[in-house]
Amino acid sequence: MSRIVRPTAYGSPGVLAVTEVPIPRAAPGGVVVEVRAAGVNPIDWKLYSGAFHDVGDDHTDAAGLAAAMPSLGLECAGIVTETGAGVTGVRAGDEVIVYPVTGAYAEHVTAPATSILAKPAGLGWAEAGSLVLASATAVHALHAAGVGKGDTLLVHGGSGGVGLIAVQLAVAAEATVIATASTRNHALLRELGAVPVAYGPGLAERVRDAAPQGVTAAVDLAGTGEALDVSLELVADRARIASVTGGPRRAGTGIKLLGYGPGEDAGAELRDAARAGLIARAASGDLRVIVAATFPLADAAKAHEAGIAGHAPGKLVLIP
Ligand SMILES: NC(=O)c1ccc[n+]([C@@H]2O[C@H](COP(=O)([O-])OP(=O)(O)OC[C@H]3O[C@@H](n4cnc5c(N)ncnc54)[C@H](OP(=O)(O)O)[C@@H]3O)[C@@H](O)[C@H]2O)c1
Repeated sequence: MSRIVRPTAYGSPGVLAVTEVPIPRAAPGGVVVEVRAAGVNPIDWKLYSGAFHDVGDDHTDAAGLAAAMPSLGLECAGIVTETGAGVTGVRAGDEVIVYPVTGAYAEHVTAPATSILAKPAGLGWAEAGSLVLASATAVHALHAAGVGKGDTLLVHGGSGGVGLIAVQLAVAAEATVIATASTRNHALLRELGAVPVAYGPGLAERVRDAAPQGVTAAVDLAGTGEALDVSLELVADRARIASVTGGPRRAGTGIKLLGYGPGEDAGAELRDAARAGLIARAASGDLRVIVAATFPLADAAKAHEAGIAGHAPGKLVLIP
């Protein structure tokens, strides 16, 4: 048997529960991976929070249990235990990174072979299991905003899982980076080469002071009204503002909307193509993957509570 964590209803993290299921078998073209580390992402708690759904009685069955609750866990790292028919280049015993995948909050997960990438030996399990989703999102956001040498980039949410990678990639691309974060995370952002500013009232003025030359592009990883308003105020070309956070206020503003909602660009090909290079950069130490905390799989609810409370920089990771 294999333990998995999934929500038993829509709500707050208290709805998460561990259940036992048979160890899955590999489908043709797929593999089974014994999970060593699963990355936690805000989408995980949003999926069962009701943020994406009209939560009503129709979500529960006659026994009062949720009928079709989402699987959680969109990325992980682990060891291949079985390969399905037609799979080449991956063998049982291989240490791998798996992305994209669903249901990675588990001891075992199945994935198509196209989601399997080799885990470099020097990369720790927690880092390997949590680096790809945030990093590929950062690559997509910087690409959409056209960030390159000579730009002055404003990163809203620079201390988050996506933000810390976006900051490093933009600095490496020789952009000047202004990054918003709570003050406790400013020293880390400075270390990574960004100019930190606090979010909150007066943000536009603080950014102007930090970048008197002007801001040429912005990436919104915070999702607040303030992040949108300040980006629109400071960046002349709306096509050079990219948001990964969705929300009705952003639609129709002329900024780039990235993600999986209506009218958003999922960037699947670009993100998939970026995976191997990001893993190589992380393995070489060129890209720092900062793990804020690890939790046992059974404590997924505590991990989500920590993520919702926020302010610890970097990734949260579940260890089965
Ligand atoms: N569309 C996509 O494909 C996609 C992919 C990945 C993530 N996302 C979304 O992108 C967002 C960021 O993801 P993440 O993994 O980086 O999350 P995270 O690790 O939880 O980081 C959140 C960031 O937001 C900052 N923040 C918190 N409250 C804020 C406020 N009131 N004003 C401005 N900034 C604030 C935090 O700063 P402090 O901690 O310093 O306070 C931190 O930098 C989430 O909404 C997530 O769902 C979308």
